[in-house]
Amino acid sequence: RQYKIAVIPGDGIGKEVMPEGIRVLEAAAKAYGFTLELEWHDFACCEYYAEHGQMMPDDWKERIGAVDAIYFGAVGWPDTVPDHVSLWGSLIQFRREYDQYVNLRPVRLMPGVPCPLANRKPGDIDMMIVRENTEGEYSAIGGISFPGTAREVVMQETVMTRFGTDRILRYAFDLAQKRPKQHLTSATKSNGIAITMPWWDGRVEEMAASYPEVRTDKYHIDILAAQFVMNPDRFDTVVASNLFGDILSDLGPACTGTIGIAPCGNINPDRSVPSLFEPVHGSAPDIAGKGIANPVGQIWCGAMMLEHFGEQDAADAVVRAIEATLAQAPLRTRDLGGSANTEECGKAVAERVA
Ligand code: NAI
Ligand code: MG
Repeated sequence: RQYKIAVIPGDGIGKEVMPEGIRVLEAAAKAYGFTLELEWHDFACCEYYAEHGQMMPDDWKERIGAVDAIYFGAVGWPDTVPDHVSLWGSLIQFRREYDQYVNLRPVRLMPGVPCPLANRKPGDIDMMIVRENTEGEYSAIGGISFPGTAREVVMQETVMTRFGTDRILRYAFDLAQKRPKQHLTSATKSNGIAITMPWWDGRVEEMAASYPEVRTDKYHIDILAAQFVMNPDRFDTVVASNLFGDILSDLGPACTGTIGIAPCGNINPDRSVPSLFEPVHGSAPDIAGKGIANPVGQIWCGAMMLEHFGEQDAADAVVRAIEATLAQAPLRTRDLGGSANTEECGKAVAERVA
């Protein structure tokens, strides 16, 4: 088995955590008998922008070519390039071009990470947030009339399609069915948003009929946010529209102590186009260049990439190695009260991938 991966470190700590992600992937490849073909790219970062006046070359898609996945660090350097320019010129291009319609974020309470909630131990919180990544509230349909006057009117439409909704629901139900709890929660707001959200609920109900083993419930987004904070252990797989999913997928990791270690997949389950795996955090200009960034988010999203390839055993081994590393204070980075630098933490995880 061989996998071809486009490696894009990006900006700031992206460049520092990426080598650790690769170190662990290579350890997993060696232990589990597959090979990796890595192609490093220097675009999709603000240094590239400084030189070329754009984030990526016009022929970026040809340069990436036929790969199994894109392994991404972080992009953004607000001192030189405005954030909307760096983000829209890179990550958003990938998501759109490859129709990565699933945004998947595992949320798990890990050892060694202080949980803001009382009486929770590792394992108590373990959920998967499935966010619709292409439509919904993030539409380009709308506009402003009479700008700057007392008659000013601004509108932006929510667009949900049956195709787009059903495919994200199918992905979420398939995932829920494979997990031991077989429990799926849908985020809604059908009491207030009285056209699109009741329709969303209807699609969930219809899809649920094909998954009799999966216990399904729904919560309005406001109380769901509150339940995430008070009782995150109640949830297993959570599916949500683009906006609701965006909020939940930051709230979830925050309830498990840090977004610094959280991973994310931008996935198109059709393996003929690449999916993109990245840590949730950004380029962290405040600590960049010091070699102290926590590499766990980068490493963990590497495990998600292996799972996407079907290398489940290797993926599980990486997650176990992360847990074993985080459990020991000297192996943790400073943001988690440890003393290791980026490389020491990365090496510790790599050594534990047996
Ligand atoms: P950030 O995630 O880069 O940093 C927020 C805070 O968390 C900082 O104090 C940082 O030091 C800390 N932090 C983040 N990751 C860490 C790690 N691995 N280890 C230890 N500490 C860590 O978010 P911020 O500061 O809002 O954004 C900085 C830049 O990153 C901006 O240009 C922004 O647009 C970009 N960004 C890019 C993302 C991406 O590539 N997907 C996601 C979020 C932000
Ligand atoms: Mg977000």
